[in-house]
Amino acid sequence: VSARLTIDPQFSIGPVNPRLFGSFIEHLGRCVYDGIYEPGHPNADASGFRTDVIELVRELGVSAIRYPGGNFVSGFRWEDSVGPRDQRPRRLDLAWHSTESNEVGLHEFSSWLEKVGSELMLAVNLGTRGTEEALDLLEYTNIRSGTDLSERRVANGRDEPFRIKMWCLGNEMDGPWQLGHRSAEDYGKLASQTAKAMRQLDPSVELVVCGSSNAQMPTFGEWERVVLTHTYDDVDYISCHAYYEEKNGDLASFLASASNMDRFIESVVATADHVKAVNGSTKTINVSFDEWNVWYNERFEKVDKIAGIDNWPTAPRLLEDAYSVADAVVVGNLLISLLKHADRVTSASLAQLVNVIAPIMTEPGGPAWRQTTFFPFALTSRFAKGNALDVRLEAEAYTTDVYGEVPLIDAVATFDAATGTTAVFLVNRSQTEEADVTVDVTALKGSIVLDAQTLSDADVYAKNTLDQPDRVGLTKNKTVAVRDGFLGITLPPVSWTAVHLG
Ligand code: AHR
Repeated sequence: VSARLTIDPQFSIGPVNPRLFGSFIEHLGRCVYDGIYEPGHPNADASGFRTDVIELVRELGVSAIRYPGGNFVSGFRWEDSVGPRDQRPRRLDLAWHSTESNEVGLHEFSSWLEKVGSELMLAVNLGTRGTEEALDLLEYTNIRSGTDLSERRVANGRDEPFRIKMWCLGNEMDGPWQLGHRSAEDYGKLASQTAKAMRQLDPSVELVVCGSSNAQMPTFGEWERVVLTHTYDDVDYISCHAYYEEKNGDLASFLASASNMDRFIESVVATADHVKAVNGSTKTINVSFDEWNVWYNERFEKVDKIAGIDNWPTAPRLLEDAYSVADAVVVGNLLISLLKHADRVTSASLAQLVNVIAPIMTEPGGPAWRQTTFFPFALTSRFAKGNALDVRLEAEAYTTDVYGEVPLIDAVATFDAATGTTAVFLVNRSQTEEADVTVDVTALKGSIVLDAQTLSDADVYAKNTLDQPDRVGLTKNKTVAVRDGFLGITLPPVSWTAVHLG
C-alpha cells in the first residue's frame, strides 16, 4: 500500500477548538462511584476522589466534560444532588435500572473538575421535566446571589456562581428508550421555549439542541430539519451521537467506521445549512459531537442489562468494554474525522471517561489503568493545535461490506502558527500490508521530526486488562525521515500514528 499527502498551512479547514477533546461522565455503572470517586481507596483524597484517576484524566487531556447524562439525565432531579449529603435522597435510575445515592452531585463534581482542569458541560432534563426546572438549575448555577436558588447555592458552600457556559437541552430525545421521548415537533417546541427562557436569564449560555441518537435512526435527517426549524435562532449547536463496533467478524468494515462518521457530520451540516437557507439566516449552527466511541452495544444488550422489580443495584458493572488495538485504531480514526470537520464540529465528547466504555479503567481498592483507546486520544489532544489542515490525500481504496469503497489510509494534519509546530495523524486500515506514506512538507520550510508514535500490534485484539495493564502501548516509529522537503513513513497494518514536527 502507498499513499501521498501534502501539508501546507494554507490548506486550512478551520481552527481546532479545544472543546473537540471533551469527554463525558454519566451517573451510570461505575463511572462516578468506584470510578472517579471511591472514598476509602488508598489513593483517595480528602473528598473521596481517586488521585490516580485524576492524574490519568489530566494526562488524557480532556477539555470539557458533559454531565450528568446521557439517558440518566432524562429522569434526574438536580435538587437531589445538592445540599447536605446525609439528607440527599436515594432514587431509582430508570435508565440503567440502578440506585442513585446522590453522594456525588453538582458541587462535588464541579470541585473534581477543578482538580482535573476541565470545563463543565451540563445537561438539563427535558425528559420528565421542562423549562421551569431548567431555569431553576440555571439560576442556581449562574446567578451570583440575592435570589432563592442562588442563595441556596451559597448556603450549600459555594459563594461564586459556577458560571456554566455549555448546556445540552436534554439527551437523545428522538430515542424511544428515552424517558419523555418526543416527536421532533414536540421536542423542537419544548427546546425552543427552554432555550429562549434560559437566554432570558443568562444570554451568555451556549446551547446544544438534540440531534439524532445515531445516523441509523428512522427519523435521521428529518429530525434535524424539524428540530432546527423550531430552534434555529435559539441554539448554537446540534448534537451528533455515534457508536461503532465490530460486528460478525467484519474487521474490514469496522476499520472504516470513520468514513461513516464523515458522512454523518456532512449530512447534519447540510441539513443545518438547509434550515439556514430557508430561514434566510446569517447565523451558522455548528455540531457538538457529544457522544462518540467504540461500544460493544450487543454485549450490553445480552449480558449487562439489569431487570427485576427488586433489583436496583448501586454502581453495577455496566458497559465495561475492554478495548483492543483495532478498537484504538478506530478511535484514533474517529478523531481524524472530527479534525477533518473542525470548521463545523467545534465541540465533541468521547463517551465516556472512566469504567463505562472508557479510556480509563479502575478496580475497587486496586489500580487504575489506560485502555488502548487512551493513547490516540491523549496524543491527538496534546498535538492537535492551531488550524486543522486538508492534506489532499491520494490513497488506494478497498471494498467493505458496510461502507462500500473506502481509502486504505486516512489522515489529517494541524498547524499551530503560535509555536510553528505541525502534527499529522494517520491510520492504515489494511489488515495485511504495511503502507509507505510520502508527505510533501516543502511548505513547512525545513521542519524536523520531534516525535513519531505508532499504535499497532501483531495481535490486533490485544488489550490492556487488570492482569496485564501495560500489554499495549505506543512505540516510536523509527521509519520516519525527512529528505528534500518530503517526509517518508511506514505504517504497520491496522495502525494509528501521530507525527509531530517543529
Ligand atoms: O453513553 C451511553 C449511553 O449512550 C448514553 O447514556 C446515551 O445518551 C446513549 O444512548
